[in-house]
Amino acid sequence: GFSWKLEDHPKLEKGKILAMVVLDGWGEANPDQYNCIHVAETPTMDCLKKGAPDRWRLVRAHGKAVGLPTEDDMGNSEVGHNALGAGRIYAQGAKLVDLALATGKIYDGEGFNYIKESFETGTLHLIGLLSDGGVHSRLDQLQLLLKGASERGAKRIRVHILTDGRDVLDGSSVGFVETLENDLSNLREKGVDAQIASGGGRMYVTMDRYENDWDVVKRGWDAQVLGEAPHKFRSAIEAVKKLRELPKASDQYLPPFVIVDEHGTSVGPIVDGDAVVTLNFRADRMVMLAKALEYENFDKFDRVRFPKIRYAGMLQYDGELKLPSRYLVSPPEIERTSGEYLVNNGVRTFACSETVKFGHVTFFWNGNRSGYFNPEMEEYVEIPSDSGITFNVQPKMKALEIAEKARDAILGRKFHQVRVNLPNSDMVGHTGDIGATVVACKAADQAVQIILDAIEQVGGIYVVTADHGNAEDMVKRNKKGEPLLDKDGKIQILTSHTLEPVPIAIGGPGLAPGVRFRKDVPDGGLANVAATVMNLHGFNAPSDYEPTLIEVVNN
Ligand code: 3PG
Ligand code: CO
Repeated sequence: GFSWKLEDHPKLEKGKILAMVVLDGWGEANPDQYNCIHVAETPTMDCLKKGAPDRWRLVRAHGKAVGLPTEDDMGNSEVGHNALGAGRIYAQGAKLVDLALATGKIYDGEGFNYIKESFETGTLHLIGLLSDGGVHSRLDQLQLLLKGASERGAKRIRVHILTDGRDVLDGSSVGFVETLENDLSNLREKGVDAQIASGGGRMYVTMDRYENDWDVVKRGWDAQVLGEAPHKFRSAIEAVKKLRELPKASDQYLPPFVIVDEHGTSVGPIVDGDAVVTLNFRADRMVMLAKALEYENFDKFDRVRFPKIRYAGMLQYDGELKLPSRYLVSPPEIERTSGEYLVNNGVRTFACSETVKFGHVTFFWNGNRSGYFNPEMEEYVEIPSDSGITFNVQPKMKALEIAEKARDAILGRKFHQVRVNLPNSDMVGHTGDIGATVVACKAADQAVQIILDAIEQVGGIYVVTADHGNAEDMVKRNKKGEPLLDKDGKIQILTSHTLEPVPIAIGGPGLAPGVRFRKDVPDGGLANVAATVMNLHGFNAPSDYEPTLIEVVNN
């Protein structure tokens, strides 16, 4: 029968204190002026790279190595931390939805049949991120769903868009809205009453995460459900174009708007009897809205009206909370994660980040599961993030506080694994502010040094890696790798993640002298890290885990 018991590693000792450091958005790319990690002073990470050639390497962090549909898919924190924690590669949300749409299985499922009950008399509302970024959602999936739902009886459809500019270029929202408008107009020609009803920028409207700022979700609720927003337009294209002209406006931060008819009445509030689908497959930034749409008892903001709707998520966002209870596609069944194994084998675990990345080293790391496996063995600490700011204003974020918490946990010797995520290079990289991203990279590097110093003091081991690239390339490039210029001859800032590999370094006084990276897993990716970490805790990994990156040679 199944057992949680892990075999002992034949050569490596148990009981060492191990620091597991994830730099968010820290990839390896050519050193040039758009590589903020190269430009920044990063002596700690430079030293890890130069120090020990067989204890530093690169691993894959994008595309199929992390369960995404194609090699053109950049990495992201969800799939990256899932792979790091689970030690295996799962077909991820993006791919599962693609498959369900391609086979038509999405329309046979319980979720679709549940919302379909409303098609005769109610409106179908689709709410989600509008881009082809492929991190939280994809435009082509929305297009297929619009077609599929209308062919299956949806007569009145309202789309509530969230503009991106974070997983795709800023300014691309206009083109995505045009494409969607074109599709909706084709549907109208076929007799379906289909329109965009509301919108707003993803970082200002709806897509907050880890309960950092409920006002973000409220602004979306007011527009989507109540049909109320400070800006009213007759068309979404006009809305996005006009709102982008406001000072400091960008796709990510567009204010909420509603589309109104000739009488000034909003065209698509959500009312009793309607069906609602949240289009995002990724959980972190949709689960707050899911709570607002589903929970009878809810006190995070005043909903004013709580319509009786049939609601389904594209996926189920939280397996532990079973939220939402209805969904169109089943999420990846990530089970037997390294965190659960290690806790069950006596490895006391501490995890910490600041709010905006807290769920990455807990929820995503543990296979999209919130909460502890065993509260007596684990402690998860969340440092409150600054809210209501863009992080280029505070590029150091809470790196120092996170490092100090990790240091204290290491020096306290109560935990065997101390796991952190340092958000700076990612969160500031997403703002597209190159100067601030350089400051961010330096701050993250300094935080790593604090943690390595603590590991030195306790004779421990460190593993330093990243979940995907971001700050190492801040410019959109052509196929030759040259910066791409826009029509005015200006470079186009890349706010998104990249396809680059990420470094992994191991070391520390507790690391047995013969440990080095193997040469026979050149294609190793983030999913190979879990077995590596299990070895460093003194265990063999389960046989179905991706192979370890290390070997122990006698010298
Ligand atoms: C976000 O949600 O901020 C971006 O779309 C992806 O960033 P992350 O994968 O690093 O969280
Ligand atoms: Co990111």
